[in-house]
Amino acid sequence: MDAKTLESEAMSAISGSATLAELDDARVRYLGRKSELAQALRDVRDRETGMVLNPIRERLEAKVEARRQALERAELDRRLREERVDVTLPGQEYRVGTLHPTTQIRRIVEDAFLGLGYEIIDDREVETVHYNFDQLAFPPAHPTRSPRDTFFIDPERLLRTETSPSQIHTMEAKKPPIYMVSIGRTYRRDEITATRFPIFHQFEGLAVDHGITLADLKGTLLHVMRALFGDDREVRFRTHYFPFTEPSIEPDVSCPNCNFAGCRMCKFTGWIELGGAGMVDPQVFVNVDLDPEEWSGFAFGVGLERSAQLRHDITEIRPFWENDLRVLRQF
Ligand code: PHE
Repeated sequence: MDAKTLESEAMSAISGSATLAELDDARVRYLGRKSELAQALRDVRDRETGMVLNPIRERLEAKVEARRQALERAELDRRLREERVDVTLPGQEYRVGTLHPTTQIRRIVEDAFLGLGYEIIDDREVETVHYNFDQLAFPPAHPTRSPRDTFFIDPERLLRTETSPSQIHTMEAKKPPIYMVSIGRTYRRDEITATRFPIFHQFEGLAVDHGITLADLKGTLLHVMRALFGDDREVRFRTHYFPFTEPSIEPDVSCPNCNFAGCRMCKFTGWIELGGAGMVDPQVFVNVDLDPEEWSGFAFGVGLERSAQLRHDITEIRPFWENDLRVLRQF
């Protein structure tokens, strides 16, 4: 092929290449080691031929380089166009989970007691009659011993009706001083209503030491109630009965909703009932081989859902067990 034809054929192949790969093919074909041009250049014997062929090679190389730059620019333009991010578009929403309100209450309670030097213990949900009733000095005919009130697995085993058996396990496991809180599920054969559910959570506290008094109990509950419901809560006691405490009391907390102004939540009394408490009954100490003359202690049990209801002004217990995300996401 004569030089002119070769050059124009190569030129159109180079400028006709649509991609970098095609351009490279053209370069190899017309400028590569085995190309007609390279062959001819190797065979050059005279000055005239060299002066024709070398400029052709230079022009072709320049053309390849120009074409490469053009293709690279076009590729960059394409990517910038296609991968452009429209920063004005609404972002993608990432759903962030939240802790269940019962778990949130549990953590507040744990923090409050860890701050007082209490240990947090985990206990069993399947209990025996021995630990759930006998050791806690429930009289033989107490109504909660009945299968009408309590979920029995067999005559000896049941789902614990309260967290109080953890008091017994703790006192059997170690000698005082004892400062412990145990938090977990409890079970009662209640119909589901707005305020009752057959499963709920309690936190149980127990302090056993020398010279513990009701005033210590009151101060401890005040501390936790303030952690749960705000700095200016008040706590008061009403007398009550539990088989395993003497005296037994029901602690009330001043209404976190109205602060004594009177509202529906506290039935216009300014006070809200919290749970049960009292001084450890001497009989319970005897049951776990502790000398009631030497040791004294207090115990209390408070519902977690009930605490969450008060904290968030929720009138029902059911939502805590329904796991409806529309409700749970609000906390
Ligand atoms: N266990 C009692 C209840 O569930 C509450 C309680 C705990 C009372 C500890 C006294 C001491 O009602």
